Amino acid sequence: MDVLDRQHLEIKRRHKNLRTAIVEGLGMDQIVACAKDLIDVTIGHFKSEEGAMEENKFQGLSAHKLLHAEMLESVKKIWSDLERRKISNAMELMKFFDERLVFHLEQEDIMFERELRTRM
Ligand SMILES: [Fe+2]
Ligand SMILES: [Fe+2]
Repeated sequence: MDVLDRQHLEIKRRHKNLRTAIVEGLGMDQIVACAKDLIDVTIGHFKSEEGAMEENKFQGLSAHKLLHAEMLESVKKIWSDLERRKISNAMELMKFFDERLVFHLEQEDIMFERELRTRM
């Protein structure tokens, strides 16, 4: 569980880096690099979280996998637009992480944590 918590913090750190790059107007190169970094860390986290859920035979695994898949689909769509280097796409990605991903980390991931805790 420590690993997953640490990954959540990593996502939040990258999310903050992207915000800084946009707010401080560091330029599209920097913004795209931060966006890619954030997306990569998020994809990696989803994989290891699903692995941990599988290992622990978490009941909600398939529903949770679906949530991850839906989010990745949105992220990939925004990313393919962002490669055209428009600031509006960077803002769209920020908005997605601000709203959807924060909700996921803070609300939807909690059921698994709770289930693990009841087994300890
Ligand atoms: Fe998570
Ligand atoms: Fe998750």
